[in-house]
Amino acid sequence: MESEIYSSTSEDETHAVAAQFASRLNKGDIVTLSGELGAGKTEFVRGICSYFDVEDIVSSPTFSIINVYTGRLRSGEPVRIVHVDLYRLKTKHELKTIGLEEWLALPDAIKLIEWPEKANGCLSRQHYHVEIRTLPGMDDRRQICIGAVGAACLGHAQK
Ligand SMILES: Nc1ncnc2c1ncn2[C@@H]1O[C@H](COP(=O)(O)OP(=O)(O)OP(=O)(O)O)[C@@H](O)[C@H]1O
Ligand SMILES: [Mg+2]
Repeated sequence: MESEIYSSTSEDETHAVAAQFASRLNKGDIVTLSGELGAGKTEFVRGICSYFDVEDIVSSPTFSIINVYTGRLRSGEPVRIVHVDLYRLKTKHELKTIGLEEWLALPDAIKLIEWPEKANGCLSRQHYHVEIRTLPGMDDRRQICIGAVGAACLGHAQK
């Protein structure tokens, strides 16, 4: 997997890295986000949503599991952004109940998945993967690795 590494020293810098990354996303794309509790996955999602001019407040879907926002592509065309947090899911049955496969298959939405480790094999499709690491003793510093899994290509530009 090819990957790019960025460093961030603040929430705002993480938003900026995320917004720059978002310029490559298109309808249908899937992005998985890994990192420990409080690493900054939801902040990264906020940066992506701000790139797409989402007007709603982007909050963590830890309890709702799925939040759906409406944003706009650069062309002005509306796009749905599906933000999923699988942290609380425990069984395959729960994955079925929330319809994860169906959400992932949506061709017209951008899907952002926190805690993909809980997806139990549902994430075989090509996708981008973002890994956010905290560094010992450095409260606000993060390392952000962005990679492409499967046939997803890091270089493509938004249509
Ligand atoms: N460089 C940074 N980038 C992102 N967030 C940072 C940074 N420095 C400090 N923070 C803080 O870290 C926290 C990240 O919270 P966030 O909800 O994004 O984590 P998360 O990875 O989504 O956690 P969870 O697994 O619980 O959903 C926020 O309180 C944010 O202000
Ligand atoms: Mg989160």
